[in-house]
Amino acid sequence: MTILDRIAALQQQVAELKAANQEELENLRIKYLSKKGEISQLYDEFRAVPKEEKAAIGAPLNVLRQSMEAHLNELREHLAAAGSSIVAGEDLTRTPDPIELGTRHPLSLVREEIVDIFSRIGFTVADGPEVEDDRHVFGMLNFAPEHPARDMQDTFFVEKEEGIQKPTDILLRTHTSSVQTRVMTEFARRLKEADATGKECERSLRVLCPGRVYRNEAISARAHCFFHQVEGLYIDKNVSFADLRQALLYFAKEMFGAGTQIRLRPSYFPFTEPSAEMDISCDLCGGKGCAFCKGTGWVEILGCGMVDPNVLESCGIDSTVYTGYAFGMGVERIANLKYRVKDLRLFSENDVRFLRQFESC
Ligand code: PHE
Repeated sequence: MTILDRIAALQQQVAELKAANQEELENLRIKYLSKKGEISQLYDEFRAVPKEEKAAIGAPLNVLRQSMEAHLNELREHLAAAGSSIVAGEDLTRTPDPIELGTRHPLSLVREEIVDIFSRIGFTVADGPEVEDDRHVFGMLNFAPEHPARDMQDTFFVEKEEGIQKPTDILLRTHTSSVQTRVMTEFARRLKEADATGKECERSLRVLCPGRVYRNEAISARAHCFFHQVEGLYIDKNVSFADLRQALLYFAKEMFGAGTQIRLRPSYFPFTEPSAEMDISCDLCGGKGCAFCKGTGWVEILGCGMVDPNVLESCGIDSTVYTGYAFGMGVERIANLKYRVKDLRLFSENDVRFLRQFESC
C-alpha cells in the first residue's frame, strides 16, 4: 500500500472509532497519535517523500491528524458528559458511592415518640380526613352553631353556605377531635351490632389521633396556619378524672424525664366537662422560675378533660353507661420543648441546615 492509500484507509476509519471508557480512549490515542502511533509513523515516512510529492501527501495527512484529534476530543467530551468513570475490568457489581440519606423530620420523631408512649398503655392509632364537614369538627363536639368557642378555631372553608355555619359546610379540620367523633360513632355501631347479634366485641375504646390540622392564623414565629396534633380518647365504664391524670403523668414522665411534675388548671372546651389545661414543671430551671417559663416554673403542654355527655350521645354512646377522657396536644409545642426551636416556621421550610441537626435523634 502506498502512503496515500494508508492515509485514505485510516481517514475512513476515524469516524467509526469508539471508546466506552477513559481507558479505551487512551488506547486509541496511543494507537494513532502517540510518538509511535500510526499517524506519527506516517509523518516519519513523510519526511522521506520526494519534494515534488510532498504537497499531495502532506495535505491529506494533516487532515487525517486533525480529524483524529477532533474525533478523540469529541469522544472525551462524550464520556465526561456521561460521567463514566468505569475502567475496563472493574467490578461493576461493587457498591456505589454511598447515597446521602435524608433525616427524620423532628415532628415525625416527636409524633412517633408520643404514639409509642401511649401505645404502651393500650392506645392504638386512628386516622381520618383533613377535609371534613362542620358536623364532625364542631357540631358533634358540642359547639353550638354560633358559640364563641368557634372563634378560637377559626378555619378555612372549602364549601360554605351563606350565613352561620351549617353541619354540611366543608372545611379544613381545626383539630383531630374530628377523628374521635368518627371513631366513637363506629364504636357505638359495633356495640349495637354486638347487642343485637349476641356476639362478643371490645367494649372500650382507646385511640390516638395524630395528624395535621389547620387554623386561620397569621403566620409568625409562634403561630402557623397549619400544625400537628396528637389527640387521645379513652371510653369505658367508670373512667374517672383520676385515670386521666394518671395517664398524663405517666406520659409527662416518659416524655420529659422521671422527675417531671404536672399540674392541671381548670379550663374550657365545649367537648369536655370538666376541662383542664396541663402544665409540666419547667425542666430548664427545675421549677424555680426562669425566662423560658416566664418565672412561673411551669409550661403548658396540652388540653384535656372528661368527654362531655352531649358528645357521647351525639355519637350514639349511652352516657349513663359510659364515661371517658380526652386530651389533645400540639406536636410542634412538644418538639419546641424538647429541642428549643425558636421559630415555628422552621418546621415547614425544609431547610436542610435545620433538618440535619436531627440526624442523630
Ligand atoms: N381539641 C382541642 C384543641 O385542638 C384539644 C383538646 C382535646 C382539649 C381533647 C381537650 C380534650 O384545642
